Order: sequence, then structure tokens, then C-alpha cells
Amino acid sequence: MAATTTSEPGSFHVPVMVEQVVAGLNIRAGGRYLDATAGGGGHTDALLAHLDDRGRVVACDRDPEAIARLEERFRRDLRVTVYRVNFAGIGGDPIVGRFAPYDGVLFDFGVSSRQIDDPQRGFSFMHDGPLDMRMDRTQPLTAADVVNDYPEAELARVLREYGEQPRARRIAAEIVRARPLATTAGLAAVIERAAAGRERTKTLARVFQALRIEVNGELDAIDRALRAAYDLLAANGRLVALSYHSLEDRRVKRFLREMAGEEEDRWLALPTTGERAVRMRALPRSAVKPGAEEIERNPRARSARLRIGEKLAR
Ligand SMILES: C[S@@+](CC[C@H](N)C(=O)[O-])C[C@H]1O[C@@H](n2cnc3c(N)ncnc32)[C@H](O)[C@@H]1O
Repeated sequence: MAATTTSEPGSFHVPVMVEQVVAGLNIRAGGRYLDATAGGGGHTDALLAHLDDRGRVVACDRDPEAIARLEERFRRDLRVTVYRVNFAGIGGDPIVGRFAPYDGVLFDFGVSSRQIDDPQRGFSFMHDGPLDMRMDRTQPLTAADVVNDYPEAELARVLREYGEQPRARRIAAEIVRARPLATTAGLAAVIERAAAGRERTKTLARVFQALRIEVNGELDAIDRALRAAYDLLAANGRLVALSYHSLEDRRVKRFLREMAGEEEDRWLALPTTGERAVRMRALPRSAVKPGAEEIERNPRARSARLRIGEKLAR
């Protein structure tokens, strides 16, 4: 979840760790880059500043509102192709594939400030609004469906797995008792009752995170997208991923370890005998965090973790 500052009212989203992202992508002036989560276009803009006329950025998002904003922002820049796609499907997508191989692929996971701060999107327990939470409002499943229709055990599983919520069963039981729920404020009141005053904000944040991940199928999408990004990259191309919670970061970390041949490979179904292939190297090995000055300026950057992988020539 990232980034806007109170000092910039009306801004769509303040991009996180821009310098580190640009450095991580090791930009070539005439290179091709895929911004798979372009949001308000802040990172796209930073990439463009390092490209000459031969460079290209394919700026994608699954949210039609973000796409409208991106089209408006970059309509005069012939180097940019704005494209609505769920990054789960970039492997084999004809538009994304047309510009492959890429010199860099960027993922900035989670939701934008515009999405979080709009009460009508239903992402935040800080604002009252409908229980929606869809990044793409053309999809049918909403948070209201999960909250009101999932069996109690299934709801508890979502809260435990995606919210790492120790009181998942108790909260699920309270939610089921309070059905039907229509608003974020109504849900927040139930969660607060179930949490009985313990770690109020943390509990609310985790339950809302869990529902958001479920509604948008976020973790499966990340697994599929990382794998596809590898195929879309040129040799020596860079994968840069910004995560905002441990469930996201763990997936990127595990993917890079697998591609570095350090862990068993779940994606490529390689023969189990013989040496593990080394396809990428992590640069550096551990995640990079934002500096204190950035966190001061933009508190939503505080949980960001950046990982960089380089595809090795075969
Ligand atoms: C943190 S924001 C990105 C902000 C952007 N880097 C910027 O500078 O403004 C994350 C964006 O990713 C989009 N997103 C999340 N999951 C996605 C998916 N599976 N496919 C495509 N876009 C996705 C969200 O709609 C949101 O706009």
C-alpha cells in the first residue's frame, strides 16, 4: 500500500523509492520497459526521464480509473503505450508481447493512494463506504460478497492466510452473526467488537488487507506475473518489485531464490535430478528499504521493500 502525502492534496499517488527503482532497472536510453502497475504514472514518468526517442514504456494497470488517468497524462508521449490488463495475464498477452523482450519489468504491488483514499472504493477502514475493494470494478466479486456469502470456515481461512490474523475464527464468527453488512464502517465496528480493544488498528488493517487480497486474487496474480515477467525479459534484463507486506515480499523473495537455483523450483517443473538451473541473480540478495527521509515525507512508503533480479544470459 503506498503513497500520497498530506502536503500534496489531490495527488493521485506519490511513487515510492523512485531513485532505487530507476537504479534497479539499470535503464538504457533506448530500452523497452514494462510498468505492470502504472497507477498514477509516477514511476512511468521517472522511467521516461531516462529514455530517449527510441525508448518505450508499456504502462499497464487493471483499474479502468487508473488507465483513464494514464491515458490523459501520457497522451502526447509517443514512447508510452497505456494498456489495461491484470498482470496475472501478461504471459501470452498479445499487446504486452508485442514489445518483448523487455529490458526491465516493474511491479509496484498493492493499491494506490487514489484507490485507498476514495471512500466509494471501500478499501479503507478510515472512511465509510460500500464494501467493495475491487481494483477492477468490472469484476463481479466484491468484499460484500466475501463478507456476507462465504461460509464461516472459509471466511476464517481468508482472514488467517491473507491477514495473518490470530483471532481469525473469532472475527469470522462475529461477522457471520452481524450479517448482512454493507459498509466499511459497519464491518469495522464488528471487527473492533471481536478484537475487544486489543491492537485495534493492526487488527482492522489486517482484516481489510485479507479481504482485499481475496477479492482481487492478489497473491496468485503475483506468482503468475513473476513467472511471466521472466519470460518477457531480455537477457540481462531487470525485474524490480516493490512489496508492501510480508505476503507479497515473501513471494518475490522465494521466486528470486528459485530462479537463482537456491530453492526447489515450483514453476518450471524441471527434472528433479541434476543441477538446478541458475536463471536470475538477486541484486542485492536482501530487500532494500526506503530511507528515513522518504518515510518522513511519505509515511505510506514505510512498509516498502524493493527486490531486484537480473535475468542471466543462457
Ligand atoms: C501502488 S499502486 C502503483 C503506483 C504507481 N507505481 C505510480 O507511480 O503511481 C498499485 C497499482 O497496481 C494496480 N494493480 C494491482 N494489482 C494489479 C494486477 N493484478 N494487475 C494490474 N494492475 C494491478 C492497482 O490498480 C494500482 O493502480
